[in-house]
Amino acid sequence: MKIGILGSGNVGQKLSSLFHGAGHEVLIGTREAGAAPGNPAVRHGSFAQAAEHGEVVIIAIPYVACEAVLPPLKSSLKGKVVVDATNPLNNDWSPLLLGEQSSAGEQIARLVPDSRVVKAFNTVFADSMTPERLNRGGMKASAFLCGNHPEANDTVAKLAQQAGFAPVNAGSLSCARYLEAMAHLNIQIATKMGGGTNAVFLYHQAAA
Ligand SMILES: NC(=O)c1ccc[n+]([C@@H]2O[C@H](COP(=O)([O-])OP(=O)(O)OC[C@H]3O[C@@H](n4cnc5c(N)ncnc54)[C@H](OP(=O)(O)O)[C@@H]3O)[C@@H](O)[C@H]2O)c1
Repeated sequence: MKIGILGSGNVGQKLSSLFHGAGHEVLIGTREAGAAPGNPAVRHGSFAQAAEHGEVVIIAIPYVACEAVLPPLKSSLKGKVVVDATNPLNNDWSPLLLGEQSSAGEQIARLVPDSRVVKAFNTVFADSMTPERLNRGGMKASAFLCGNHPEANDTVAKLAQQAGFAPVNAGSLSCARYLEAMAHLNIQIATKMGGGTNAVFLYHQAAA
């Protein structure tokens, strides 16, 4: 599958390597096309090229940058699965509160209303997005996801599985509020309690 990634930072690079390793055709877009480091096997270009290239396009830039970056890409993203991997954070990683009535995922869906937005990968630290660290004693790191389009959720769940995560579908896009709160918890433990970023959620569900 063709995957476009907006952003060549920690998350963009790690996800691009995982998806490339799973056999997908990845193109990373950056604001300065061609300037990105990372896996030399992965193609690089502009945000516009990544948005055009991807059947699935992953947002891996700061949430606060989306309001400027996404509107010009709206037509390229039309009808596509857009994965929101962002967390609404201030510069010091503290939560940027959106209130009880919304989430970064829902706000992003408003910026690209003709796309099928799926919230995913925001609950996993980039530092843990390697084949070795996703595998925890036989259990795979959980990748919680949610969105209003069941077939888009299924597409992202399948991609997550191929990349080495254990996908957990949480339901509609409003559940992004819960997924973002999980990420805030993850960051709190990592940065304020000395837990570090080599840490993942492992969701264990007994068979019914
Ligand atoms: N790090 C994690 O563990 C983690 C885990 C899950 C989710 N997330 C979320 O994933 C997103 C990316 O995180 P990251 O850690 O990969 O960040 P990062 O390493 O700082 O990379 C951010 C990327 O966004 C670009 N960018 C920054 N400001 C921009 C702007 N104003 N306009 C356009 N592009 C801009 C950067 O481009 P330049 O290189 O040109 O600055 C870079 O490509 C964030 O929303 C974060 O909350 C992070």
